[in-house]
Amino acid sequence: MSLAALWDSLLPIGLAAETGGYRRYSFTAADSGCRDWFFTAAAERGLRACGDRNANLWAWWDCPVAGAGQMPAPGAIVTGSHLDSVPDGGAFDGPLGVVSAFAAVDLLREQGFSPVRPIAIAAFCEEEGARFGVACLGSRLLSGALEPRAARQLRDGTGVTLAEAMTGAGLDPAALGSDEELLGGLAAFVELHIEQGSALDELGAAVGIAAGIWPHGRWLLDFAGRADHAGTTRIADRRDPMLPYAATVLAARQAAAQHGALATFGKVRAEPGGVNGISARVRAWLDARAPDEATLDRVTSDIGSSAAAAASRHGVALTVSRESFSPAVEFDRALRDRLAGALTASGIAAPVLPTGAGHDAGVLAAVLPTAMLFVRNPTGVSHSPAEHAAQPDCETGVTALAAVLAELAGR
Ligand code: GLV
Ligand code: MN
Ligand code: MN
Repeated sequence: MSLAALWDSLLPIGLAAETGGYRRYSFTAADSGCRDWFFTAAAERGLRACGDRNANLWAWWDCPVAGAGQMPAPGAIVTGSHLDSVPDGGAFDGPLGVVSAFAAVDLLREQGFSPVRPIAIAAFCEEEGARFGVACLGSRLLSGALEPRAARQLRDGTGVTLAEAMTGAGLDPAALGSDEELLGGLAAFVELHIEQGSALDELGAAVGIAAGIWPHGRWLLDFAGRADHAGTTRIADRRDPMLPYAATVLAARQAAAQHGALATFGKVRAEPGGVNGISARVRAWLDARAPDEATLDRVTSDIGSSAAAAASRHGVALTVSRESFSPAVEFDRALRDRLAGALTASGIAAPVLPTGAGHDAGVLAAVLPTAMLFVRNPTGVSHSPAEHAAQPDCETGVTALAAVLAELAGR
């Protein structure tokens, strides 16, 4: 099947017609559609597909073991990405890596390649953290970076726990946890992803190689004030949590600009949410990222101090909790060099780029050599329906990924 046909078969799943964005949240009908799509794509290729203990999906291109059973199977080369989305996300962030993985397997077979190591295609569960708040949920659980007990208790915006959602989807939350046996069979993970910036476009390159990922995290700021009447409560008598929240948004912007970092409030909930009422509570989620951890600490501590001061000025209580954190990642140098060598040998010029976006490859870098390929995004827009990569660049991405898999799984 061509890359375009494979891509088209995934496109309708989880698409919100009113916005043109994707709402592929874990353990929902859209997620189940994506999972079915994955199993179908694997079956069409004769790949052995299964879910792991952490709701991640795997499709295996097994290969005969050298020495007819006397030798243990050598470490598998894993590629893939994720199928979930942010609210009203674009089509490419995540799915491009999974679709390209299947297409790369097709291309390798057309080329007559036979692997001497197994090749696996993975689709990791809830990379975006859009439902349960923790980014890279599936890869964190797999690698032991997240405790299964804490994970089971995570709640979505309606109060449903992860354990309940998994059970509802026919999965077993008791099985969650680090999977040494699975990890022990893996030699490397290479994730292909749309670039979430326009560096490749500026450099005139279709494909790039990731250098590393900025440290980043998510914090929940919970401002608790006092609900009251919008038309009768005197200004001096108000304990309005919206005001320290608003001051904190501006402080975050200022702190980020001052330190060369990024800080975003992309999600906020005012409760109870009446137009003619002062809010009882404002909960807001801060996403902060910086080139290094010391800078990130400075930025988040400046934002926390500003929030605390503003809350106190307005008679509002504030609690701050960190919901997820990803340390700085520098991808494995030797693996990166092998990627660069394979691409050069295939005539693909691939610049090396850092990124502020988080990825499963960043989480798995703690337990496995990992690397990433980026595909040009002409506008740089991502986490939006406007996210786009041109078909010829996606084809180059598949060629690049196939070359990398041939290099890594061919010997
Ligand atoms: C994922 O795309 C992230 O960077 O949050
Ligand atoms: Mn994303
Ligand atoms: Mn992604």
